[in-house]
Amino acid sequence: MKTTQEYIEENRARFLDELLELLKIPSISADPKFKDDVAKTATAVADSLRNAGCSMVEVFQTKGHPIVYGEHITDPGLPTVLVYGHYDVQPPDPLDLWDSPPFEPVIKKTAIHPDGAIFARGSCDDKGQFFMHVKAFEAMVRTGTLAVNVKFMIEGEEEVGSSNLGDFCRENKKMLACDMVIISDTSVLANDTPSITVGLRGLSYVEVEVTGPNKDLHSGVYGGAVANPAQVLCDMIASLKDENKHITIPGFYDDVVEVTASERAAMNMAPFSKKDYMAGLGIEETMGERGYTVLEQTSIRPTLEVNGIWGGYIGEGAKTVLPSKASAKISMRLVPNQKSDKITELFKKHFESLAPAGVKVTVKPHHGGEPVVTPSDTPEYQAAAQAMLETYGKEPIPVRGGGSIPIVALFESVLGVKTVLMGFGLDSDDIHSPNEHYGLFNFYKGIDTIPRFFAHYARLKAKS
Ligand code: BES
Ligand code: MN
Ligand code: MN
Repeated sequence: MKTTQEYIEENRARFLDELLELLKIPSISADPKFKDDVAKTATAVADSLRNAGCSMVEVFQTKGHPIVYGEHITDPGLPTVLVYGHYDVQPPDPLDLWDSPPFEPVIKKTAIHPDGAIFARGSCDDKGQFFMHVKAFEAMVRTGTLAVNVKFMIEGEEEVGSSNLGDFCRENKKMLACDMVIISDTSVLANDTPSITVGLRGLSYVEVEVTGPNKDLHSGVYGGAVANPAQVLCDMIASLKDENKHITIPGFYDDVVEVTASERAAMNMAPFSKKDYMAGLGIEETMGERGYTVLEQTSIRPTLEVNGIWGGYIGEGAKTVLPSKASAKISMRLVPNQKSDKITELFKKHFESLAPAGVKVTVKPHHGGEPVVTPSDTPEYQAAAQAMLETYGKEPIPVRGGGSIPIVALFESVLGVKTVLMGFGLDSDDIHSPNEHYGLFNFYKGIDTIPRFFAHYARLKAKS
């Protein structure tokens, strides 16, 4: 029989072709116009799991988009690994900033990806990454090397807050029972510097609206006397941070667990060039919370960002108008032990209190999620670290990530299991941005690493 490596080597081209097909379906979960495409993607994912060797595959309908489940029970006595991923993608807008259409994948070389990268929405986040697991699983099944039970749960609502997944987990605890969860939906520090994500931030997301006069007004006739909602909104938002970029919402930092000096020192050992970071973004300086490095600002510190702001006239040319309304979407990234609901409540109370006489303010909460830290002294983490050491030739560095995958906290509270975040993307892969891409190096590195992780996990788990 072939080895897993031989099987992967022989099927490399087909693995890529299959991923490219998946990337052609626009599974945009946020936009109801794409509901059928999302459903079509769920079917394609289910087919891929069946073809890869799952003995049971089912597409579960939800109030939103479907959840794809598949399993391969090798032997009930063996440990079980749940692979989680998401087949939905972010909207590709603004379309005119893409160099090629977002759902017509093309492979191009870049400075960071000399072997080529797949340019398409979802290539890195997360179709390209969960698909590595499907193909690694196929290789293990076909070569008879799978030493654990595997369950797949690939959902279609991650990018819109996984609102139906919590209930699904609670209702299907038995089916989803496992010893650990593995997710590839994060990044490594660089292609020559492997890392494993050991924490994610939580999220509180709100939409605010400021309403002034009962209609849009002539800005000359009324301007100067009537509160301008766009101006008021800017003033209110500006006051949410002080001169040190510290967030001014009372109680905001109360539950933040300060990271120890030694942990901070370790974290700042990770190779990072602020100069390259700024050059890559086309900025001349960073602007973050005083007293923290960029690596800390984007991982262990909570933040508040305006994601969108609108109101008044934004069409061609100039229209003199004092708008009746202005709005903004604001996200707060949270760190242990902040609680999403509590932070949303603190924000709402404070923001409403900022409203000057002459305007009304409403705060509408959107989705949220809790922060997590995942341990690095467990067999599951060690298995991932060993696997990466083999394929990268270097010990991976544990790093805390800045993004959020809210379901990870739920896996812990509902299923009672820990997660390993072994992602293979790069922060510069432009996820959520125009020209999202995923390196072929990264795709194949993942497919090489995952079977090794499974083998080490089976061995280490049997010992523990
Ligand atoms: N894969 C990302 C999360 C991520 C990216 C974690 C990079 C660490 C490094 C995920 O798909 C995502 O985008 N999550 C959203 C949260 C969700 C509730 C919309 C996010 O972080 O904004
Ligand atoms: Mn993702
Ligand atoms: Mn995402």
